[in-house]
Amino acid sequence: MSRQNIYDNDLFFDRFRSSRNSEVNFNDCIETPILFSMLPDLHGKTILDIGCGMGQHAKQYSDMGAKAILAIDISEKMLTYAREYNSADHIVYQRMAMEDIRAIGQQFDLVTSSLAFDYIEDFGGLMSSIYLLMADDAKLVFSMSHPMVTAWDGSCDRYTRTESGERLHANVVNYCVEGRRVVHWVVDGYECYHRTLATLINDMIKAGFNIEECQESHISDDMRKQYPDLFGGTIHRPEFIFFRCGKR
Ligand SMILES: C[S@@+](CC[C@H](N)C(=O)[O-])C[C@H]1O[C@@H](n2cnc3c(N)ncnc32)[C@H](O)[C@@H]1O
Repeated sequence: MSRQNIYDNDLFFDRFRSSRNSEVNFNDCIETPILFSMLPDLHGKTILDIGCGMGQHAKQYSDMGAKAILAIDISEKMLTYAREYNSADHIVYQRMAMEDIRAIGQQFDLVTSSLAFDYIEDFGGLMSSIYLLMADDAKLVFSMSHPMVTAWDGSCDRYTRTESGERLHANVVNYCVEGRRVVHWVVDGYECYHRTLATLINDMIKAGFNIEECQESHISDDMRKQYPDLFGGTIHRPEFIFFRCGKR
Protein backbone atom coordinates (compact mmCIF):
# COMPACT_ATOMS: atom_id res chain seq x y z
CA MET A 1 0.00 0.00 0.00
CA SER A 2 1.37 3.41 -1.00
CA ARG A 3 2.54 5.74 1.79
CA GLN A 4 4.35 8.87 0.74
CA ASN A 5 6.57 10.86 3.12
CA ILE A 6 6.63 14.21 1.32
CA TYR A 7 7.24 16.23 4.50
CA ASP A 8 10.80 14.84 4.66
CA ASN A 9 11.52 16.46 1.28
CA ASP A 10 13.73 19.49 2.12
CA LEU A 11 11.88 21.99 -0.06
CA PHE A 12 8.40 20.78 0.96
CA PHE A 13 9.29 20.79 4.65
CA ASP A 14 10.82 24.30 4.52
CA ARG A 15 7.78 25.68 2.70
CA PHE A 16 5.35 23.99 5.11
CA ARG A 17 7.28 25.15 8.17
CA SER A 18 7.41 28.76 7.04
CA SER A 19 3.71 28.82 6.15
CA ARG A 20 2.67 26.99 9.38
CA ASN A 21 4.75 29.42 11.44
CA SER A 22 3.62 32.58 9.63
CA GLU A 23 1.48 34.95 11.65
CA VAL A 24 -1.62 34.50 9.48
CA ASN A 25 -2.18 30.98 8.13
CA PHE A 26 -4.96 28.50 7.42
CA ASN A 27 -4.12 26.33 10.44
CA ASP A 28 -4.22 28.99 13.13
CA CYS A 29 -6.95 31.16 11.60
CA ILE A 30 -9.34 28.44 10.40
CA GLU A 31 -8.48 24.84 11.25
CA THR A 32 -7.35 24.93 14.87
CA PRO A 33 -10.20 27.07 16.33
CA ILE A 34 -12.86 24.80 14.83
CA LEU A 35 -11.09 21.56 15.78
CA PHE A 36 -10.50 22.74 19.34
CA SER A 37 -14.14 23.82 19.71
CA MET A 38 -15.09 20.15 19.10
CA LEU A 39 -12.74 18.61 21.69
CA PRO A 40 -14.00 17.18 24.98
CA ASP A 41 -12.46 18.33 28.29
CA LEU A 42 -8.84 17.14 28.18
CA HIS A 43 -8.05 17.07 31.90
CA GLY A 44 -6.49 13.74 32.86
CA LYS A 45 -7.08 12.28 29.38
CA THR A 46 -4.81 10.03 27.32
CA ILE A 47 -4.55 11.19 23.72
CA LEU A 48 -3.28 9.76 20.43
CA ASP A 49 -2.47 12.52 17.90
CA ILE A 50 -2.11 11.04 14.41
CA GLY A 51 0.07 12.97 11.94
CA CYS A 52 1.15 15.37 14.70
CA GLY A 53 3.53 17.29 12.44
CA MET A 54 5.56 19.90 14.29
CA GLY A 55 3.72 19.22 17.54
CA GLN A 56 1.81 22.47 18.03
CA HIS A 57 -1.43 20.69 18.92
CA ALA A 58 0.20 18.07 21.15
CA LYS A 59 1.81 20.89 23.16
CA GLN A 60 -1.53 22.66 23.49
CA TYR A 61 -3.23 19.41 24.63
CA SER A 62 -0.55 19.08 27.30
CA ASP A 63 -1.09 22.70 28.39
CA MET A 64 -4.85 21.98 28.53
CA GLY A 65 -4.30 19.28 31.18
CA ALA A 66 -3.98 16.02 29.21
CA LYS A 67 -2.33 13.23 31.20
CA ALA A 68 -0.37 11.57 28.38
CA ILE A 69 -0.07 12.24 24.66
CA LEU A 70 1.34 9.86 22.09
CA ALA A 71 2.01 11.95 18.98
CA ILE A 72 2.93 10.01 15.86
CA ASP A 73 4.07 11.05 12.41
CA ILE A 74 5.76 9.46 9.41
CA SER A 75 8.15 12.41 8.93
CA GLU A 76 11.42 12.53 10.84
CA LYS A 77 11.85 16.23 10.03
CA MET A 78 8.46 17.09 11.52
CA LEU A 79 9.23 15.04 14.65
CA THR A 80 12.67 16.61 15.06
CA TYR A 81 11.04 20.04 15.03
CA ALA A 82 8.32 18.87 17.43
CA ARG A 83 10.84 17.48 19.92
CA GLU A 84 12.88 20.69 19.80
CA TYR A 85 10.08 23.27 20.03
CA ASN A 86 7.00 21.53 21.40
CA SER A 87 8.18 19.09 24.04
CA ALA A 88 6.54 18.53 27.41
CA ASP A 89 6.82 15.83 30.06
CA HIS A 90 3.53 14.24 29.04
CA ILE A 91 4.26 14.03 25.31
CA VAL A 92 5.96 11.15 23.51
CA TYR A 93 6.77 11.85 19.85
CA GLN A 94 7.14 8.62 17.89
CA ARG A 95 7.86 7.88 14.27
CA MET A 96 5.06 5.68 13.01
CA ALA A 97 2.85 5.60 9.93
CA MET A 98 -0.87 5.78 10.57
CA GLU A 99 -1.22 2.58 8.53
CA ASP A 100 0.55 0.78 11.42
CA ILE A 101 -1.27 2.13 14.47
CA ARG A 102 -2.88 -1.19 15.42
CA ALA A 103 0.54 -2.17 16.76
CA ILE A 104 0.21 0.47 19.51
CA GLY A 105 -2.07 -1.95 21.33
CA GLN A 106 -3.36 0.40 24.02
CA GLN A 107 -6.57 2.37 24.42
CA PHE A 108 -6.92 6.16 24.53
CA ASP A 109 -9.58 8.58 25.80
CA LEU A 110 -9.22 10.74 22.70
CA VAL A 111 -7.87 10.13 19.21
CA THR A 112 -7.29 13.26 17.22
CA SER A 113 -5.79 14.26 13.90
CA SER A 114 -5.35 17.50 11.99
CA LEU A 115 -5.16 17.43 8.22
CA ALA A 116 -3.34 14.09 8.00
CA PHE A 117 -6.11 11.76 6.81
CA ASP A 118 -5.77 13.18 3.28
CA TYR A 119 -2.78 10.83 2.99
CA ILE A 120 -4.39 7.50 3.89
CA GLU A 121 -5.25 5.18 1.02
CA ASP A 122 -7.54 2.92 3.06
CA PHE A 123 -9.72 5.36 5.04
CA GLY A 124 -12.14 2.62 6.12
CA GLY A 125 -9.26 0.49 7.41
CA LEU A 126 -7.89 3.46 9.35
CA MET A 127 -11.29 4.05 10.96
CA SER A 128 -11.41 0.39 12.09
CA SER A 129 -7.88 0.61 13.53
CA ILE A 130 -8.71 3.79 15.43
CA TYR A 131 -11.89 2.21 16.82
CA LEU A 132 -9.81 -0.57 18.40
CA LEU A 133 -7.52 1.99 20.06
CA MET A 134 -10.38 3.83 21.76
CA ALA A 135 -11.77 3.26 25.25
CA ASP A 136 -15.55 2.75 25.34
CA ASP A 137 -16.39 6.39 26.05
CA ALA A 138 -13.52 7.84 24.01
CA LYS A 139 -13.91 10.37 21.19
CA LEU A 140 -12.36 10.67 17.74
CA VAL A 141 -12.01 14.32 16.62
CA PHE A 142 -10.33 15.07 13.31
CA SER A 143 -10.05 17.43 10.38
CA MET A 144 -9.09 16.77 6.78
CA SER A 145 -9.29 18.53 3.45
CA HIS A 146 -12.88 18.90 2.33
CA PRO A 147 -13.84 16.57 -0.55
CA MET A 148 -14.52 19.68 -2.66
CA VAL A 149 -10.83 20.50 -2.30
CA THR A 150 -9.43 17.05 -3.05
CA ALA A 151 -11.72 16.88 -6.13
CA TRP A 152 -8.99 18.42 -8.25
CA ASP A 153 -6.31 16.92 -10.48
CA GLY A 154 -4.03 19.82 -11.37
CA SER A 155 -5.43 20.09 -14.89
CA CYS A 156 -6.75 23.63 -14.29
CA ASP A 157 -6.56 26.49 -11.83
CA ARG A 158 -8.38 25.74 -8.57
CA TYR A 159 -10.63 28.72 -9.37
CA THR A 160 -12.14 30.28 -12.45
CA ARG A 161 -11.03 33.90 -12.34
CA THR A 162 -11.73 37.26 -13.91
CA GLU A 163 -9.03 38.77 -16.11
CA SER A 164 -7.73 40.65 -13.08
CA GLY A 165 -7.42 37.40 -11.11
CA GLU A 166 -10.48 37.71 -8.88
CA ARG A 167 -11.92 34.28 -8.00
CA LEU A 168 -15.35 33.79 -9.61
CA HIS A 169 -15.99 30.20 -8.53
CA ALA A 170 -14.16 27.05 -7.41
CA ASN A 171 -13.38 24.33 -9.94
CA VAL A 172 -14.38 20.84 -8.81
CA VAL A 173 -12.84 18.13 -10.99
CA ASN A 174 -14.01 14.50 -11.10
CA TYR A 175 -15.68 14.62 -7.69
CA CYS A 176 -17.22 11.22 -8.38
CA VAL A 177 -13.90 9.53 -9.14
CA GLU A 178 -12.30 8.42 -5.89
CA GLY A 179 -8.68 7.55 -5.31
CA ARG A 180 -5.15 8.87 -5.47
CA ARG A 181 -4.50 12.37 -6.83
CA VAL A 182 -0.94 13.25 -7.86
CA VAL A 183 -0.46 16.96 -8.42
CA HIS A 184 2.19 19.66 -8.31
CA TRP A 185 2.08 21.34 -4.91
CA VAL A 186 5.41 22.93 -4.05
CA VAL A 187 7.07 19.85 -5.57
CA ASP A 188 6.08 17.50 -8.38
CA GLY A 189 4.42 14.25 -7.38
CA TYR A 190 2.51 15.38 -4.28
CA GLU A 191 0.00 12.61 -3.44
CA CYS A 192 -3.27 12.67 -1.54
CA TYR A 193 -6.55 10.74 -1.71
CA HIS A 194 -9.97 11.96 -2.76
CA ARG A 195 -13.15 10.40 -1.36
CA THR A 196 -16.72 11.54 -1.61
CA LEU A 197 -18.49 12.80 1.48
CA ALA A 198 -20.72 9.70 1.45
CA THR A 199 -17.68 7.41 1.51
CA LEU A 200 -16.20 9.25 4.50
CA ILE A 201 -19.46 9.05 6.42
CA ASN A 202 -20.18 5.43 5.52
CA ASP A 203 -16.65 4.30 6.40
CA MET A 204 -17.04 5.86 9.85
CA ILE A 205 -20.41 4.21 10.35
CA LYS A 206 -19.12 0.82 9.13
CA ALA A 207 -16.21 0.99 11.61
CA GLY A 208 -18.76 1.35 14.44
CA PHE A 209 -18.78 5.10 15.02
CA ASN A 210 -21.60 7.46 15.89
CA ILE A 211 -21.04 10.80 14.18
CA GLU A 212 -21.80 13.39 16.86
CA GLU A 213 -20.80 16.57 15.04
CA CYS A 214 -19.65 17.66 11.61
CA GLN A 215 -18.34 21.08 10.67
CA GLU A 216 -17.16 22.69 7.45
CA SER A 217 -14.56 25.41 7.72
CA HIS A 218 -15.52 29.05 7.62
CA ILE A 219 -13.87 32.39 8.29
CA SER A 220 -15.24 35.84 9.03
CA ASP A 221 -15.93 38.39 6.28
CA ASP A 222 -13.51 40.72 8.06
CA MET A 223 -10.64 38.23 7.75
CA ARG A 224 -11.52 37.59 4.10
CA LYS A 225 -11.46 41.31 3.36
CA GLN A 226 -8.24 41.83 5.33
CA TYR A 227 -6.38 38.98 3.59
CA PRO A 228 -8.03 38.59 0.17
CA ASP A 229 -5.10 36.76 -1.47
CA LEU A 230 -4.94 34.13 1.28
CA PHE A 231 -8.58 33.67 2.23
CA GLY A 232 -10.49 35.01 -0.82
CA GLY A 233 -11.35 31.50 -2.01
CA THR A 234 -13.02 30.50 1.25
CA ILE A 235 -16.28 32.12 0.14
CA HIS A 236 -16.61 29.55 -2.66
CA ARG A 237 -15.89 26.31 -0.81
CA PRO A 238 -15.00 25.05 2.66
CA GLU A 239 -11.29 24.21 2.82
CA PHE A 240 -11.63 21.62 5.60
CA ILE A 241 -14.17 19.20 7.04
CA PHE A 242 -14.31 18.15 10.72
CA PHE A 243 -15.93 15.24 12.54
CA ARG A 244 -16.39 14.25 16.16
CA CYS A 245 -17.34 10.60 16.68
CA GLY A 246 -18.02 8.31 19.62
CA LYS A 247 -18.19 4.52 19.69
CA ARG A 248 -21.60 2.98 19.03
C1 LIG B 1 -0.70 18.96 6.83
S1 LIG B 1 0.44 18.20 7.95
C2 LIG B 1 -0.40 18.50 9.48
C3 LIG B 1 0.51 18.43 10.67
C4 LIG B 1 -0.12 18.80 12.00
N1 LIG B 1 -1.20 17.90 12.36
C5 LIG B 1 -0.60 20.23 12.02
O1 LIG B 1 -1.76 20.46 12.36
O2 LIG B 1 0.20 21.12 11.71
C6 LIG B 1 0.17 16.46 7.68
C7 LIG B 1 1.05 15.57 8.53
O3 LIG B 1 0.69 14.21 8.30
C8 LIG B 1 1.87 13.44 8.27
N2 LIG B 1 1.64 12.19 7.52
C9 LIG B 1 1.46 12.04 6.19
N3 LIG B 1 1.30 10.74 5.88
C10 LIG B 1 1.36 10.05 7.05
C11 LIG B 1 1.27 8.67 7.39
N4 LIG B 1 1.04 7.75 6.46
N5 LIG B 1 1.36 8.33 8.69
C12 LIG B 1 1.59 9.28 9.65
N6 LIG B 1 1.72 10.60 9.38
C13 LIG B 1 1.59 10.98 8.10
C14 LIG B 1 2.88 14.34 7.59
O4 LIG B 1 4.21 13.91 7.78
C15 LIG B 1 2.55 15.68 8.22
O5 LIG B 1 3.27 15.89 9.39
